[in-house]
Amino acid sequence: MSGFPTVRPRRLRRTATLRRMVRETAPRIDQLIAPLFVRHGSGVVRPIASMPGHAQLSVDMAVREAESLAELGIPAVLLFGIPAHKDALGSENFDPDGIVPRAAAAIKRAVPELIVISDMCCCEYTDHGHCGIINTPQIKYYDERLAEGYLLNDPTLEILGQAAVVHAQAGADIIAPSGMIDGMVARIRTALDLAGLHQTAIMSYAAKFASSFYGPFRDAAESPPGFGDRSEYQMDPANRREAMREVTLDVEEGADILMVKPALAYLDIIRQVRDRFELPLAAYQVSGEYSMVKAAAEKGWIDERRVALESLTAIARAGADMIITYWARDAARWLRG
Ligand code: PBG
Repeated sequence: MSGFPTVRPRRLRRTATLRRMVRETAPRIDQLIAPLFVRHGSGVVRPIASMPGHAQLSVDMAVREAESLAELGIPAVLLFGIPAHKDALGSENFDPDGIVPRAAAAIKRAVPELIVISDMCCCEYTDHGHCGIINTPQIKYYDERLAEGYLLNDPTLEILGQAAVVHAQAGADIIAPSGMIDGMVARIRTALDLAGLHQTAIMSYAAKFASSFYGPFRDAAESPPGFGDRSEYQMDPANRREAMREVTLDVEEGADILMVKPALAYLDIIRQVRDRFELPLAAYQVSGEYSMVKAAAEKGWIDERRVALESLTAIARAGADMIITYWARDAARWLRG
């Protein structure tokens, strides 16, 4: 009585209702996090050419967008700032009048229940586009033992700690350090606690790979590195064991939520983190994952909605509790039916 012809798995695929009954995974609106790009000005909606459907928004427009995302049931937004000025230290990142603190405050005022996450990195704010302080003789942190152009780890931590406090004081509920700087979680936790911000959570980009799938984002956030690439700090896409080590360190440093990024090409990492660690896990479906589908759909080669939902289902199936996705708004509509 084992095997075909007695056993026929197709019996449970015969009708839509049967398939619905045996479905194991479905992405939920509660899992979605919507990225927003904010810039100075008012009434600004500046479309991002490489990411159709997305735009850089001034704070007033970002507030409107946040309100409508919340109405759709989306629980959180992830803020990226485009500063007015860029410099070697990325000063606007720790300026209380900077673009992200302003946006965070305005969004929390308008939609208090919406969770505001701040992507904590230097690359949007530095004139060289790297995720921290770069070693050059012109800066006070210059270290002659290290190569010029090397990203200085510990001085960068100082800035991340300071900026995290500024963003949290403005209203960010969660700080999400994304620079793959050693010790960033511990340093941010300490800085937040010293400022009395014990309730501000840390969502760590724990295993973030030096990925070419970030291409369209660098256009969106105006943050391409001016020289070299990010492989001296982000992880080699080839390394799974090292990813587990990175995650372990962030757990030890006090992360509240872990993240794997990108998502679709790294489902094995998502699954392994899910199986090994108890903390909530986020996956970041990055700009390239979105724009490739958009471009192919525009050509009529694939069905955007079906491909997007299939990808989100796969990411949830791999074990992600939360999914940062540029389809958040569309997916919420689609999932509502
Ligand atoms: C760094 C950051 C990046 C992304 C999120 N945070 C860019 C990078 O590491 O080069 C990429 C997101 C995406 O591609 O959607 N602040």
